Amino acid sequence: MACHPDLVHQVLRDPRTFDKGGPLYDRLRMLLGDGVGTCRHQDHRRQRRLLQPDFRKARVADQVGLMGEEVEAVCRAWRAGQVVDVSATMLDLSTRVVSRVLFSDSLDTATAAEMRECLATVVRGMFVRTVMPVDALFRVPTPANRRYRHASDRLRAIVDAAITQRRQGTSHDERDDLLGTLLAATRADGGGTVITDQEVHGQVMTLMFAGAESTALCLSSALELLGRHPEEERRLHSEVDAVLDSGQPPGPDELPRLVHTRCVLTETLRHRPPGWLFTRVTTRETELAGHRLPQGTTVMFSPYLLHHDPTLFPDPDRFLPDRWLPGQTVSVPPGAMIPFGAGSRKCIGETLALAEATVAVAFIARHWRLRHLPGHTERLRPAASLGPRGLVMVSEPRTRRPVGTPPRADSRPPGTTVVPVVHNSRTAGGHDVRDA
Ligand code: HEM
Repeated sequence: MACHPDLVHQVLRDPRTFDKGGPLYDRLRMLLGDGVGTCRHQDHRRQRRLLQPDFRKARVADQVGLMGEEVEAVCRAWRAGQVVDVSATMLDLSTRVVSRVLFSDSLDTATAAEMRECLATVVRGMFVRTVMPVDALFRVPTPANRRYRHASDRLRAIVDAAITQRRQGTSHDERDDLLGTLLAATRADGGGTVITDQEVHGQVMTLMFAGAESTALCLSSALELLGRHPEEERRLHSEVDAVLDSGQPPGPDELPRLVHTRCVLTETLRHRPPGWLFTRVTTRETELAGHRLPQGTTVMFSPYLLHHDPTLFPDPDRFLPDRWLPGQTVSVPPGAMIPFGAGSRKCIGETLALAEATVAVAFIARHWRLRHLPGHTERLRPAASLGPRGLVMVSEPRTRRPVGTPPRADSRPPGTTVVPVVHNSRTAGGHDVRDA
């Protein structure tokens, strides 16, 4: 286990020696295929080059509008005093965004909704399957196993149908989205390497999983932490009231002005990195911190461990967004903050995820205050990823406070009562082994 930033970086900057591998990645490879997130070093550069242009900053800026539309869509159903299943809602949001980035508007409404539902079931089931890699257990025809099988078959069928339809569609349906990029590579129009349909499928599945789960956990964690830190929440409200005066979701021009919102998200990713433990496997005999490691050794590193080391981050268990104010970050040692990893395998979706999370948290905070249910504490169970998986909170509408007005001690609107909604335990439950 590499426990110092320098050692973690030695591992991450030498992917030829410390390649992707270990139990988690072996399992993911079986489930998702050899996409960019799981493939070995020798095939990685080609795959990354193919996808990278679709994740450039300018490209993400074009997608900020669709992020706003989707966050508006998921919050539209909220009512005053309603118990909102925050975890399920954030997974719905991140799935909506990633499916539009992949397919733009080529899925009809019913298919897109079915895809989101299947993805939520598969994300939960995959989580259990990666932490409990005992195949026999998942062949037993329990209702949960049948649900998982049905959802993953449907997901595969929907993705295959989308690929076929795009191929056969009018003028070859030249949409400017990620599926378009991948299909162009199957024809090598740009003169690049030709990829197979199987690879297209693998990349689509990889991006859907990687893009939906981590972003949803980051958003749920941020809302959970804000609910427990009223002072930070008040400062966030002041910022969004000033920047989003029209009430519309932020566009690319507003995003840089949402400084405190971004600090809240960065601190959330430090405090609770969704990817908290990763592995690599040595491809040859090597040395790390004076220890000889034979070929095939599994090396672990943990963003959570680094982010909570008091020698790197003073008072590490406190949620302090101000650590990330411009000018403050000089005190953060290089390489200590790695919620998106580092080196050539660093998260390809970092810019997209941060833009989406900023749009979502700012828009939600502009219109809603999410409160914890009295006495409810979300128990975090570290698993393949980290974050609240069964978070429910009460939604209270907010109205914009004119700039300069002091906050009320209790901003609950008069007469607001808590309306419990029966939420579907299949979409909200703690996703542990019992789900299987
Ligand atoms: C807050 C949200 C996210 C977090 C915290 C996160 C975190 C990470 C981390 C830590 C890695 C590196 C894993 C390793 O080194 O073994 C990674 C890789 C990856 N992420 Fe993300 N991610 C997020 C959102 C996204 C999004 C939105 C997408 C795409 C739509 C995405 C796609 C990927 C892919 C494809 C890889 C593999 C990159 C490669 O190996 O070249 N992620 N992510």
